[in-house]
Amino acid sequence: MTKIGVYPGSFDPVTKGHLDIINKALLVVDHLIVAIACDTTKTPLFTAEERKEMIEFEINHTLGRNKAVEVKVFEGLLVNFVNSCGSSVIIRGLRAVSDFEYEFQMSCMNTKLQPNIQTIFLPASEKTHFISSKLIKQVARLNGDIKDFTSEFVLDKLKSKLKNQ
Ligand code: COA
Repeated sequence: MTKIGVYPGSFDPVTKGHLDIINKALLVVDHLIVAIACDTTKTPLFTAEERKEMIEFEINHTLGRNKAVEVKVFEGLLVNFVNSCGSSVIIRGLRAVSDFEYEFQMSCMNTKLQPNIQTIFLPASEKTHFISSKLIKQVARLNGDIKDFTSEFVLDKLKSKLKNQ
């Protein structure tokens, strides 16, 4: 039976940290759905479609046209989306102890809402554990160098988005 995992997030924009988790997730699931959430507490810089385009580009370039990964945008509750994908596994990356409290709370809430759904936490690599989309946007806004944290493609999108703001 194919084990399907869902990796949700805001991905605003996708970073090398997210790609690290996608790679690791493919070691534990057969098929991964990277799920861009519309309903989060954050106000995104990029539209959901722009975020989807960036993740698809990154996946094609780093993993090759890997059929095991697809990218979807979803609205509403994550657990309903996970169910609709025929999955019962949520993948989340953990970067530091500070992530744990929030992630643990979310995973408990999700399992309370849908007892068949469990969250698997994957540790971020030491090269990426300090990366966050918010910090990347802040450094880019102030003309700092972010090429170690994301790709040229995302960098260009970020520059033109910030210029047009
Ligand atoms: N490497 C680098 N950065 C990482 C990372 C990693 N391995 N893992 C997480 N991050 C960063 C992200 O870039 C992001 O940075 P930012 O805060 O600067 O934007 C941050 O860590 C975590 O954000 P993200 O992974 O996008 O999660 P989120 O907290 O924005 O959203 C959802 C979490 C999408 C799972 C949640 O909002 C959700 O489920 N929404 C749907 C509605 C719902 O069901 N709500 C009830 C949930 S209980």
